[in-house]
Formats: sequence, structure tokens, C-alpha cells
Amino acid sequence: MKNMTRRQAIGAAMGATVGGALGVLIPTKLTSAAQAAPVEVKKSETPVKIEWKPVKLDAAKVAPEAYKLYAEGSCMYASFTSLCRALAEASEKTNPSMSKVLKEFPCEMMKYGHSGTGNQGSLCGALNGCSAIFGLLVRDKKKVDSMIAELFGYYETTEMPIFKPEPENPKFEPMAQSVANSVLCHVSQMNWCKESGESPFSEFRRDRCKRLTADCVTKAIEILNRYVESEGKAIFKTSNTQQKACMDCHGENGAIGNVSARMDCTTCHDMVDHYEE
Ligand code: HEC
Ligand code: HEC
Repeated sequence: MKNMTRRQAIGAAMGATVGGALGVLIPTKLTSAAQAAPVEVKKSETPVKIEWKPVKLDAAKVAPEAYKLYAEGSCMYASFTSLCRALAEASEKTNPSMSKVLKEFPCEMMKYGHSGTGNQGSLCGALNGCSAIFGLLVRDKKKVDSMIAELFGYYETTEMPIFKPEPENPKFEPMAQSVANSVLCHVSQMNWCKESGESPFSEFRRDRCKRLTADCVTKAIEILNRYVESEGKAIFKTSNTQQKACMDCHGENGAIGNVSARMDCTTCHDMVDHYEE
């Protein structure tokens, strides 16, 4: 018995008891503790199962809401909240449990995403809000990735803003357009500032970002509607061919296979990188 392990010792002690005979170890301490504080068995509440799925929306109605909501909490809040409310309304009859949750959703949390996440100038908040909606409604990660790729590729390559608020505010006309060339708030904003000659701290720049938010929502709805119409089968892909050219070599399946990124590479690198000494 000198080299008896703890387990063997407990086993030997329990040997004569019923628990030991059945091979069930019931440490006496635990048993008495459990008796002292009986666990209350709650009646089971059947949780409402929510079927998360997008419904078709009308961008002409939602985009102006996004433009307006910007004043309450900036870009991410505006893109997310406008889509969330529109989805809640559109699914009221067809998917009441989802509609209810969307109505009660604490959209205020999305204010964190303003100016590229808490003023950091990183990911554009309008894109972040739309992507959050994709993630909320579509649970196939690969599909969500491809929906994001299409949205981001559009953002990187399109002259924006396109949206025109009504009534027109002469204070912010004519509105300069620029190609963001990046999903980064800072790069997107500065490219527009260079084009327009406006300061990033101006009301004019804020109006540009309000319109840009409406544009992102419009594109997100186009993507969501295609998803709904195709019953989830639609193929989404980026229109940013520049990035594809780099990834043919640097992507996971390329000859070099050393880069895991999908944003536009030319913001920070170009082919000149290859000829540096
Ligand atoms: C035909 C294949 C090919 C394509 C297309 C290509 N690259 Fe490369 N790239 C290479 C090779 C090979 C290297 C050297 C790899 C090494 O040294 O490990 C390289 C190196 C680099 C480097 C590192 C340079 C350094 O200083 O060491 C960067 C950054 C880069 N590429 C960016 C890009 C970008 C951006 C694009 C698209 C505009 C691109 N590449 C397209 C093949 C390619
Ligand atoms: C926001 C700026 C930014 C973007 C966009 C970006 N990169 Fe980079 N990349 C960097 C930085 C910073 C480094 C760190 C090394 C450096 O300074 O070269 C780096 C490193 C690299 C390297 C390794 C360089 C080396 O010296 O080994 C490669 C290859 C590369 N990037 C390719 C790409 C490709 C392909 C894309 C597009 C999918 C891309 N990058 C997008 C900023 C960026």
C-alpha cells in the first residue's frame, strides 16, 4: 500500500460501498455540499428559434435614411441602423421573431465604428456596418466573405459619392467625387480631400461621408436582394482586378503564397517593389 495513488486510495475506501461496487465515485464532501445547497431546477423555457435570413429591400427608401441617421452616430451606426430598421419592417409579417429582435437591437453599439473604428482611421465604418448586417443574416462564413469582397471591391474602385440628398443643400454643392482606392477610412477620406480641397474636419467632408454611407447601403442592398432572389445561390465576387493580379502570385494558391489579405494592394505597394535592390 506504500505506493498507492490517490485514485487507488479512494477506490479502496469506496470498495465496500454501493457506489464503489457500481464503479461510481461519490466523494463524501461533495455529496454533503450538494445536500446543503440543493440546486433549484427551473422550469424549462422554450427559447424562440429565430430564422435569420435577409428579405428584399428598396434601396431608394433606405439610402436616404442612412444619410439622415449619420447625424445621430456617424457612418457605421447609420449604415447598420438603416438596414436593421428596414429589415425589421420588411420581415414583420413573414418572419415576426426576427423582426422583433431587429426592432429591439441595441444599434447604439455600432457608434464605436465611426471614423474607421473609434477615430483610428482604419476600416470605413459604413462598410463595417453593412458587413455586420451580412454576418447577422447569413451564417455561411464563406458566403459572407464573398459578399464583403463584392462590397469592398466596389468601394475601392468606384467614383463616390453618388447619392444625392433631397432636397439639395447648396452648401454642399458641387460635391466632388473620388475613388477611395482603399477600404481604410483615412485613405478614402484623404483622397476625397485632395480632390475637393476641403479639410477632413469640414462640414463638407462630413456631408461627403453621409452620402458615401448611403452609397454603401445601396450596394449592400443590391447584394442582399440578389442573395434573396437566388435563395442564397448567387455568386459574389470583387470587381477589383488589381488585387487579383497580385494574388495570382502572392495569394494562398499562388507560386509565392505569402499574403493573406484581400484589400487593394496598390494603396501601399506597387510593382516597383519588385525591382528595388
Ligand atoms: C508574377 C508573380 C508576381 C506578381 C503578379 C506580383 N508579385 Fe510581388 N513578388 C513576386 C516575387 C517572386 C517576389 C519576391 C519574393 C521573395 O523574395 O520572397 C515578390 C515580392 C513582393 C513584395 C516584397 C518586396 C520586397 O521588398 O521584398 C511585395 C511588397 C510585393 N511583391 C507586392 C506585390 C504587389 C502589390 C503585386 C500586385 C501589384 C505583386 N506583388 C504582384 C511575384 C509577384
Ligand atoms: C495599408 C497598407 C498595405 C496594404 C493595403 C497592403 N500591404 Fe502588404 N505590407 C504593408 C506593410 C506595412 C508591410 C510590412 C513590410 C513592409 O513595410 O514592406 C507589408 C508587407 C507585405 C509583403 C512582405 C514584404 C517583405 O518585405 O517581405 C508582401 C509580399 C505584401 N505586403 C504584399 C501585399 C499584397 C499582395 C497586398 C494586397 C492583398 C498588400 N500587401 C496590401 C502594407 C500594406
